[in-house]
This record gives sequence, structure tokens and C-alpha cells, in this order.
Amino acid sequence: LKRIVIKISGSIFYWDSVDKSLPPLVNVIKREATKRKISFVVVAGGGETSRLYINSARKFGGNEGILDDLGLKVAQLNAGLIVSCLAEQGYPVVPTSLDETIQAVELGKIVAVGGFHPGHSTNAVAALIGERIGADLFINATDVDGVYSADPAKVKEAKMFKVISVHKLKELIYRNAMVAGSYELMDLVAVNIIERAKLKTRVIRAVPDQLSMAIQGADVGTHII
Ligand code: UTP
Repeated sequence: LKRIVIKISGSIFYWDSVDKSLPPLVNVIKREATKRKISFVVVAGGGETSRLYINSARKFGGNEGILDDLGLKVAQLNAGLIVSCLAEQGYPVVPTSLDETIQAVELGKIVAVGGFHPGHSTNAVAALIGERIGADLFINATDVDGVYSADPAKVKEAKMFKVISVHKLKELIYRNAMVAGSYELMDLVAVNIIERAKLKTRVIRAVPDQLSMAIQGADVGTHII
């Protein structure tokens, strides 16, 4: 029995498009779960709604811990949308801790989660789950086709890596972190966990065909080694 963790980018949860973008992705997961007997944990990003809350609370003087708490609660709400799409194939509640998530996975349903603790990203949450359940694959389904040398939305010459080492990825993150509003593909916490757990990781665009191919082990997006 295979285990796969999928992080679904917060960009999928934009209010004006979530009804079109989310169900097709969840349908791929439901189909593959039945067809290939794979157990899935799906992690939802916080997206623009989490940033709306975070920005407002920051203006009101809230500390970073409270801002994170708001962000992760929105990610949990987004996970609730996934639970709704999963219907009877889904674990009916959104676990709020790693322990709860692991227990839920053992029950054999598709599990959807948001965040756990302040100070994390949902990518880190996904990597932590992948490590603990001994996942065969971590798929980071995001709003670009893979890991690029620079932000593809801003830099025309940015090139996509088919394969990138954890070491090179860390270098990229350090370099980008020096620039405000920089290209965020993965944070260091997530990458460190991927490294220590030797978690097989693929970054792909969050669209149904790419997701379905990645689940089936095809060479799509960027493979992190
Ligand atoms: P993310 O930053 O991971 O979601 O979580 P996103 O912005 O949608 O990311 P992408 O686009 O999918 O990659 C939203 C916020 O929630 C808080 C953090 O503040 C994070 O920036 N959070 C989330 C936590 O503090 N802990 C968690 O476990 C999860």
C-alpha cells in the first residue's frame, strides 16, 4: 500500500475560482485512491484569505504568533472544503495535530489538514506528515510548473529544473530570501525535513492532468533529490 502526501497551493482556494479549481483536483485523488489503493493526506494552503487575515491583524498590532494562528486556521478552513469534496471517501474532520493526522491515516480514509502550529508553512506541515507516515512521495502542487531559477512571473529567462538537489534548492532559497517579496517555492523548514527524511518530492502545477501523472509516478514538474 502506497502513501502519498499532497500539498495543494493556497492559490487554488481563491474565492472567485475555487468552485472550478478544487473539485477536479480532489476527484483525481479520489479516483487514484480507489484504483491504486493509495492512502493520501492532502494539505491545504492558506492562500489569499489567510493573507487578508494576517495583514489586517498586523495592522491592528497583533504579534507574529497570532498572525500565524489566523493563517493556519484559514488553511484548516480550506482543508474543510477538501473534506466536503471527498464525501464518504474522506476522514470527516480536519485533524489539528500530527498525532491526530497519523491516527486518521491508519483508519484508511483520505485525510485533509491545514496547519498545526505557529511558525510553520503548510509545506513544512506536509513534509512533517510525509516523514512520520513514511510517505513514498510528497507532491507539492503549486501555481507554477516546477522549481525555477527565479520567479517565472517576473524573470523571462527563468528556467525550470527537471531535477534539483536539496543542496541547490537551499542555495536558491537563501539567495531569494535577500529580496523582499521574493519568489517563494518552499521554505527552509520544509526543505530540511525533506532532506533528513529522504522524502521523495515533486513540485508540479496544481492541475488535474499533472497531478494524476505525478501520482502515477510520471516525470512531471521538478523532482527534488
Ligand atoms: P501557507 O503560507 O503555507 O499557505 O500558510 P499559502 O500562502 O497558501 O502557501 P502556498 O501558496 O500554498 O505555498 C498560510 C499561513 O498560515 C500560517 C503561516 O503564517 C502561513 O504563512 N501557518 C500555516 C502556520 O503558522 N502554521 C502552520 O502549520 C500552517
